[in-house]
Amino acid sequence: MLMPLLSMSGVFTLEPMQSTLTSEHKAMAQRSVLCWLATANAQGQPNVSPKEVFALVDDEHIVVANIASPTSAKNIHANAQVCLSFVDVFAQKGYKVLGTARDVRPTEAEFAHWAKPLQAMAGDRFPIRSVFVIRATAVEPIIAPSYRLYPSETTEASQTEAALRAYGVKRPA
Ligand SMILES: Cc1cc2nc3c(=O)[nH]c(=O)nc-3n(C[C@H](O)[C@H](O)[C@H](O)COP(=O)(O)O)c2cc1C
Repeated sequence: MLMPLLSMSGVFTLEPMQSTLTSEHKAMAQRSVLCWLATANAQGQPNVSPKEVFALVDDEHIVVANIASPTSAKNIHANAQVCLSFVDVFAQKGYKVLGTARDVRPTEAEFAHWAKPLQAMAGDRFPIRSVFVIRATAVEPIIAPSYRLYPSETTEASQTEAALRAYGVKRPA
């Protein structure tokens, strides 16, 4: 599949879309800390909310802990289509993953397999009601426009410095 990209001149070019999850996606997910999960109900009404307890488990699956996500769970039962994005807010880069989701409950035999990496993150204080198991069908990069509009002056280091200022974060001495 080809995806459009905005070039420096504003002209759209095409580049291949990745369809599986790689170690690069996994590293970015870890740097991102949070992801945003978008679901929709049977009528197509969108719903999006942040999830911190998520993990890329293999080259096609992402798992998200349902700790306090009733609308996401309800929507997934009505409509399996989801979109999950995560961005390293300092480097201002990330990925958008399109896919289909299942809501796997603790009574199901496969629950232990999918919940394992999430339980390691959540610990005992945040019980996992179910696991949203997302099978990725497409992955697209998300990148701040500066990287493409002003490539000669935009680096990860310059974006990070700008983001630290914008968020009022001081580096440890
Ligand atoms: C920073 C942050 C991290 C969160 N992480 C999770 C999470 O990993 N799992 C979860 O179920 N809820 C998490 N939540 C809570 C849900 O986002 C929140 O309960 C939301 O209203 C659920 O909406 P939903 O029912 O539309 O999914 C988090 C909230 C915040 C602000």
